[in-house]
Amino acid sequence: MYHGWLFARDGTVLEQPGEPAESTFRARVRQKAYPCVEKNGLILTYMGPGAPPDFPTLPFFDLPAEQVWATRIIQECNYLQGLEGDVDPQHLSFLHRFLNVAPDAVRDTTTFTAKDPAPEILVEEAGFGFRIYALRDAGDDQRYVRVTNFVMPNNSAFAAGPPVDPKVEKLGRNTHYRMHWHVPADDVTHWKYEMAVRLDGPVDRDYMARIFPHAPGEPLERNLHNRYLLDSNEQRTKTFTGIGTVFNDHDRLATESMGPIFDRSQEHLGATDRGVTLLRRMLLRAIDDVEAGRDPLAVQRAPQPDPYDGLVVIEQFVPKSRDVHGFWNAEVRA
Ligand SMILES: [Fe+2]
Repeated sequence: MYHGWLFARDGTVLEQPGEPAESTFRARVRQKAYPCVEKNGLILTYMGPGAPPDFPTLPFFDLPAEQVWATRIIQECNYLQGLEGDVDPQHLSFLHRFLNVAPDAVRDTTTFTAKDPAPEILVEEAGFGFRIYALRDAGDDQRYVRVTNFVMPNNSAFAAGPPVDPKVEKLGRNTHYRMHWHVPADDVTHWKYEMAVRLDGPVDRDYMARIFPHAPGEPLERNLHNRYLLDSNEQRTKTFTGIGTVFNDHDRLATESMGPIFDRSQEHLGATDRGVTLLRRMLLRAIDDVEAGRDPLAVQRAPQPDPYDGLVVIEQFVPKSRDVHGFWNAEVRA
C-alpha cells in the first residue's frame, strides 16, 4: 500500500510503480501468501506443510448460512489459556454464577450448575478430539448431564443460550449450540471466534447483535486495563464475579488476569482438570505427528471417515442408574 505495489493472490509482485521500468526487482521478491476459503462468515486459511487437507466438514460450515452466526473478540493472553477454559465444565458453577437464581430460570445450566458445584467429570476420546461429560445431581434419581467437546486443534462446542430471542421463540433442548475457536494472533494475544449453530432453523441476527453489541474485533468496554469495571456491590448481591452477566467477560477476567502466558510449572491440577490434561496430551501428540510428517487427528482427506460424525452437544436429564457413555444414541436420536 505504501509504495503502491500490487500483489497476485499467490504473493507474486505484479507491479512496483516506484521502481525503474527495466528493473527485475519484482521477480526476486514475494509476499507471503496462504490459500483461503470463505464459508458461512468465516475465512479459513491453511498454513501447514504440503498440500492443504480437505475443508473441514464441521456442521457450522455444512449447514445453510442462515443457521449459523459468528463474531470475534480479542483476548489478551496466549490462545491455550482461553481454550483450556472451554474444556473445564466445573467453572460454570462459580465463575458464571448468578446469585439468587429464580426457580423458573429458563435454562437448566443456571440452576443445576449452581446447585451441584462438584460434577463428576468424564472424558472420552473421539475422532474430532474428545467429549467431556459433566454429571450433576438433579434429584429424583436423575443426573443433569452436559456433553461438551474439545474440537481439534483449538475449537470447542457446548450448550449455551439460544441464538433467537427467548421472549419471541422457545427452542427445544439440544437444537442449538455454541463454539469457541481460539485462534492465535501472536504468542500473547488471540482471537476468540464466538460461533452459534442452530440445527432446526434460522438464527435471529438482530437478537445476536443485541447480545453481542460490539462489532467483530472492536475493543471491549470491560477489559484487563479497567479491571473489567468490577463492582463489589454487584458481587455481593447479583453475580459471583461482580462484572456483569456476559459470560465472555467472566472468561476473559479468568484467563487474561493469569498473565499473557501462564507459567504451567507453577500450577496445581485437580480433579476438575481432567479435560485440561487430556487437551495437553492430545496437542502434544498432534505436534509429534506433524513433526514426523503425519496428519494430526481430525485433519480430513477423502476417503477417510468424517471425524465430526460423532460430534454431539447435549444437556439432558439421565437416570442415575444409566451408563452415560453414548446414551444419546438411544434417547435423543431415537
Ligand atoms: Fe466460561
